[in-house]
Amino acid sequence: MAEHKATDLTLEEKAALTSGADFWTTEAIERADVPSVMVTDGPYGLRKQAGASDNLGLSESVPATCFPPAVALGSSLDPELAEQVGVALGEECRAEDVAVLLGPAINIKRSPLCGRNFEYYSEDPLVSGELGSAFVRGVQSQGVGTSLKHFAANNQEQDRMRISSEVDARTLREIYLRGFERVVRESQPWTVMCSYNKINGVYASEDPWLLTTVLRDEWGFEGLVVSDWGAVNDRVVGLPAGLDLEMPSSGGRTDAQLVAAVKDGSLDESFLDIAAQRVLDLVDRAQLRPALAEPWSVDAHHALAREVARRCLVLLKNEGGLLPLQPSTRVAVIGEFARTPRFQGGGSSHINPTRVDSALDAIRELADDGRVSFAPGFTLDGSGDSEALTAEAVAAASTAEVAVVFLGLPDFEESEGYDRTHINLPAAQLELLKAVVAANPNTVVVLSNGAVVALPFRDSVPAILEGWLLGQAGGGATADVLYGVANPSGRLTETIPLRLQDNPSYGNFPGELGKVRYGEGGLVGYRWYDAKDIEVAFPFGHGLSYTTFEYAHPTARILANGNLEVGVRVTNTGKVAGREIVQVYTGFAGSSVVERAPRELRKFVSVQLDAGESRQVQVEIARNDLAYWDVRVDGWIVEGGTYRVEVGASSRDIRGSAEVSIDGDVLNIPITRETAISELVAHPVAGKIVSDALALLGGAPAEDGGEADASALGAESLVKLMGSLPVGRLIGFSGGQLTDEMLDHMIEAANAAIA
Ligand code: BGC
Repeated sequence: MAEHKATDLTLEEKAALTSGADFWTTEAIERADVPSVMVTDGPYGLRKQAGASDNLGLSESVPATCFPPAVALGSSLDPELAEQVGVALGEECRAEDVAVLLGPAINIKRSPLCGRNFEYYSEDPLVSGELGSAFVRGVQSQGVGTSLKHFAANNQEQDRMRISSEVDARTLREIYLRGFERVVRESQPWTVMCSYNKINGVYASEDPWLLTTVLRDEWGFEGLVVSDWGAVNDRVVGLPAGLDLEMPSSGGRTDAQLVAAVKDGSLDESFLDIAAQRVLDLVDRAQLRPALAEPWSVDAHHALAREVARRCLVLLKNEGGLLPLQPSTRVAVIGEFARTPRFQGGGSSHINPTRVDSALDAIRELADDGRVSFAPGFTLDGSGDSEALTAEAVAAASTAEVAVVFLGLPDFEESEGYDRTHINLPAAQLELLKAVVAANPNTVVVLSNGAVVALPFRDSVPAILEGWLLGQAGGGATADVLYGVANPSGRLTETIPLRLQDNPSYGNFPGELGKVRYGEGGLVGYRWYDAKDIEVAFPFGHGLSYTTFEYAHPTARILANGNLEVGVRVTNTGKVAGREIVQVYTGFAGSSVVERAPRELRKFVSVQLDAGESRQVQVEIARNDLAYWDVRVDGWIVEGGTYRVEVGASSRDIRGSAEVSIDGDVLNIPITRETAISELVAHPVAGKIVSDALALLGGAPAEDGGEADASALGAESLVKLMGSLPVGRLIGFSGGQLTDEMLDHMIEAANAAIA
């Protein structure tokens, strides 16, 4: 097939092509043989609407497999699994003639309140980046494109179409853009979706710094930028900034604005050529998508969804080895969620599943006949006689050996479009749990929630299994883990705090009067809890297994390519096979430049080990992953010094550490009159020149501006005393000894020395 050229199109055709034809398709240009292609949601299943269209998941869509949403998939901490899900999604897209799947969504979980946290992977950008990257690889291996979203700093739903995320440059780079950077550099998604919000006052859809300087010039993005649905504020401003495709259709309104702007000279047509060419490239690429040789198997995808879901459950607590249950155990299953699973969130990602498993049915399949009783305990809409429901549940619990209580958030509490206002489970559920525990202390709590909830009962129940939202096969997967058919290996990718008030964004979320200030800076999630030494309910990275793992002493060394290599031997010391997620963190306590988190995740590896098996885990951490973003040079800088490398089973279960010394990057910051004396003295090259110049002055000024006796002060005290003084101000204090010419000469010499 011939490749289409934007230059063959008329101005009007180019304007039409760069906005949608309708809700889900691009414009066809019949005269030039340009076909239309379909793009559609979403991150954990295909939402292809055949009839009425909307971006809020309201109208029907074709049946598709609902895989575990990102909140769960993230907890697998296994990029290979994310890639497999991507492949399956790609197959479903191929069958439905979909060119681009609108995912992955990789925004950082800044606050537990964000209504869309269930669609996001983590509070940590390495996790989001690695899983997002693998997802993109999987989908795109099928000749289907992806849309990396929502770019960027879209971390809340409240006022999402207007709010300005006020984030400093370093925090943006290190936390909010870092995952996007990883996915773009590693996997080249076909498209990036710019978000609704503003960043520091500029709409993402109109931000040339974001869409062009960073995304294309720095990261090398080669695909197309599409607007989130309705994110375009002013397309004439957005187009030259780097917005290629407006979705959905504006009905020709903004096309006409582009045409008029080109005609009156306010918009250079070359911008339109570039955007149109990118749409054409996408359309051409989509034509190469191979047809599926045979239809995808609903059964096989459902089985995959179950296998993946098993890997996502996080066993938070298991005192006395209450789990796994035996088939012969007399079990009271309590809670409506066991019968009516909550397995996905609300909004544009909402899937019409091919089938849904309930945990109750799956438990009955695994347990011996007659060993399972059930009581709903509560209704999902809060109606019904709660006293009677509780009495029934208590009766069931008291005659069983173990009570398994399914608690969770009702559907309406978590959705795209709005945020939560608290992190509590419904009071009626907590009351029910109290009554059940009083009747039978052998109680296991199974949770269904798209974002963290407070766990005030964590000390009063022996076992807690966090099930998140597990997709359509989650019920079966939950039963598999409860009965030990699968050994849990999920880990928290978001800290569970004791109280909402402990969260770093508290007080700065969801903002006010159109602005949300990211006041906590880079100390997001565990970075904050660790820096402030705040007790948490369950830390980042935590998750138990039915077996135990031992770590030998880790080793760390710098390779010839400058990267950091970390090695550790891990042994399964228990009686059953299991999977450990080995986590490598680094910390650099000695920074004299910026505040750094005590530890930051640099690598995670999922290792399957038979009972008694031992494996050497070896990872290579890119030197640049150790860098901080330096706002003075607008670049990544690796500081020189001793780094602490920690290896462990969670951010607060460090099993061993090593130290490694790293040579720092040379920082060439031009010296000006604003440069402080302390900065000059510390400078590896200019320091000497400055000390000599200071000596020339013959003494330090006294506080009252009079002459001080230099001989009474050591050089160190002198610098301490005068350290914060910008060199330009020295003149005024020098009693005429230092002139403008002398200072300029000194600055010139210092700059020449470092050039
Ligand atoms: C969401 C996107 C989604 C789009 C299309 C928007 O409301 O923010 O994530 O892809 O709708 O449904």
